[in-house]
Amino acid sequence: MKILVVGSGGREHALAWKLAQSERIQMVYVAPGNGGTAADSRLKNVPITDPAWLAQFAIKENIGLTVVGPEVPLAAGIVNIFRDQGLKIFGPTKEAAQLESSKDFAKAFMKRHRIPTADYQTFSDVQAAHRYINLKGAPIVIKADGLAAGKGVVVALTIDEARSAVDMMLSDNKLGDAGARVVIEEFLNGEEASFIVMVDGKNVLPLATSQDHKRLKDNDEGPNTGGMGAYSPAPIVTPSLHARVMREIINPTVLGMMKDGIPFTGFLYAGLMIDARGNPRTLEFNCRMGDPETQPIMARLKTDLVGVMEHAVNGTLDAVELEWDRRTALGVVLAAGGYPDAPRKGDAISGIPDETPDCVTFHAGTELKDGQLVTSGGRVMCVVGLGDSVRIAQKHAYDTVDKIRFDGMQYRRDIGWRALKRPG
Ligand code: AMP
Ligand code: GLY
Repeated sequence: MKILVVGSGGREHALAWKLAQSERIQMVYVAPGNGGTAADSRLKNVPITDPAWLAQFAIKENIGLTVVGPEVPLAAGIVNIFRDQGLKIFGPTKEAAQLESSKDFAKAFMKRHRIPTADYQTFSDVQAAHRYINLKGAPIVIKADGLAAGKGVVVALTIDEARSAVDMMLSDNKLGDAGARVVIEEFLNGEEASFIVMVDGKNVLPLATSQDHKRLKDNDEGPNTGGMGAYSPAPIVTPSLHARVMREIINPTVLGMMKDGIPFTGFLYAGLMIDARGNPRTLEFNCRMGDPETQPIMARLKTDLVGVMEHAVNGTLDAVELEWDRRTALGVVLAAGGYPDAPRKGDAISGIPDETPDCVTFHAGTELKDGQLVTSGGRVMCVVGLGDSVRIAQKHAYDTVDKIRFDGMQYRRDIGWRALKRPG
């Protein structure tokens, strides 16, 4: 069978890498892919990003199944386009993808279906937004309604900061249409975790637990990023918390989408805030896998992913039981100089060792230029170490990181610190 993976990041490299391990695979195409997927003989890059052209490619190449990585093509309706042509694709429709593409849609949905989340109100009027901020006080969180590539959330510690975030989005139009409406919500305290499941419309299959590190610098300092590292499993998600999240958040979401007439298919990622007493609340939904969470999760998955995907598009995920490597997988993101504001591009990369049973490197912002691997984006790669403990997985990852070189490289030295801090 031929499979198509849509996207170009570390998440897509990890998905393609795992799919290509299946004996049933003839070829995994990655559109548009990156320098790492270009260099792997089991994978082939396709220089197409337009969803309608990708559907034509899928018909011409007789692609059996398509898996979508990023949110942008999902929000643009790639799943609707493929299904209209009779093509099998795993992801949410444009309508269902609103769980991620509109914060207002997601918040109203959660309120309607009594899914625990922060209190909020939505505004398009600046004065009304300012009045609400004055009433509620700080800290308070301002979110652009639409997709803003990670730049749409401001956790404001003072009323002034909150007001200027509103002005930036509503008056100065800095985020374009995405910021034409803002959700203003209660600040939640606690520890974050990523809860990712596969959904076929009705059945839910949870993936291994994970946690990422959003801030650029060690000790969770510096600006927010797409994620500087992640590991799986996440010890904070105990079996009882897992059961609670399924009962209070995931199942009501899948049922609620069914009831609302927009059944959800695809990866569903709930970003959770777990308070000091262990109560989970939903910070956000993503309608895709996390990046970099996918990299350690795929490194641990033992089950053939092609078979799982087939069940997912056929509505039979209830027949699947996933098998996981019992080891911890821990991924360290190597970012370009200047990331996240203005990442440098075109720096030559060297020293990436071959994959071993306890370390694999997934590419993201890389490309092959005249045979030389160079940086081409903010998050350049993610080095995943595996080990019987968090400490050993961390050592395997950093031993490899130490061998990789490119000008301006930035990375965190403390990926996994929360898991290491936990007793047991
Ligand atoms: P989001 O894209 O909604 O997940 O927001 C990005 C990041 O902002 C989250 O990962 C949190 O670190 C932070 N954040 C979002 N909403 C809240 C909230 N209500 N309270 C505290 N922090 C938040
Ligand atoms: N790692 C966070 C995300 O994928 O949204």
